[in-house]
Amino acid sequence: MNVNIYVADSSHVIYADAICELVQKSALERGTGIAKRTPDYITQKMIDGKAVIALEGNEFVGFAYIETWSHSKFVANSGLIVAHKYRSLGFAKKIKNKVFNLSRKLYPDSKIFSITTGLAIMNINTHLGFKPVTFSLLTDDKEFWKGCEGCVNFDILKRNDYKMCLCTGLLYDPSLKVKSKFTPALAFAGKHLLLNPLIKINSIISLKK
Ligand SMILES: CC(C)(COP(=O)(O)OP(=O)(O)OC[C@H]1O[C@@H](n2cnc3c(N)ncnc32)[C@H](O)[C@@H]1OP(=O)(O)O)[C@@H](O)C(=O)NCCC(=O)NCCS
Repeated sequence: MNVNIYVADSSHVIYADAICELVQKSALERGTGIAKRTPDYITQKMIDGKAVIALEGNEFVGFAYIETWSHSKFVANSGLIVAHKYRSLGFAKKIKNKVFNLSRKLYPDSKIFSITTGLAIMNINTHLGFKPVTFSLLTDDKEFWKGCEGCVNFDILKRNDYKMCLCTGLLYDPSLKVKSKFTPALAFAGKHLLLNPLIKINSIISLKK
């Protein structure tokens, strides 16, 4: 299987209709909603370089796109979809990695988030360093939450004043740097190992003492 994953551009707009149909069909199958997007919207994302598409030759494999909210303070990785015949082969993970890296490149200071009821998305995002959060830590941009109107659970969200629903909020906050276990002594030792691979491990360990 020779699947390539690209940052989408104008050459990919021919897939916009099929993507929208597949998103719609998959939402019905899952019995949940998904932010409904038109082919024009998807086309614009491709032209703007804010989408990722996976193809095997000319055959559509998968797609995801980037949206910005609250004046780009937040970035959402949305609309992740994989064609049925390519599911459970790891392609969602690869597409998500690519769209995540693209988001970090385009908006390095933005928080990245998703909301989902899907276990697959929870798994993928957790691997990337996302943490589950309450909706209060996500964007309060009304336009984002308007996207939930097509969801079968929208009445629950509305009833709870947009503060909670059945989706789990997942957030990647670039300002929360992972604390390194790499102590200065070990970093010093590592540098010496690079310079002199024959150096004895014992003498490195003694550096720590
Ligand atoms: C959800 C979807 C994108 C997953 O695509 P995929 O290519 O099959 O996923 P992958 O093979 O990359 O699997 C990624 C992870 O999710 C898990 N996973 C995949 N499908 C799953 C499912 N139906 N239920 C639970 N876990 C699932 C995999 O085991 C893997 O976890 P791991 O990293 O711990 O091993 C695909 O099923 C799809 O397009 N569904 C319809 C659209 C949709 O629901 N989009 C999400 C909107 S929030």
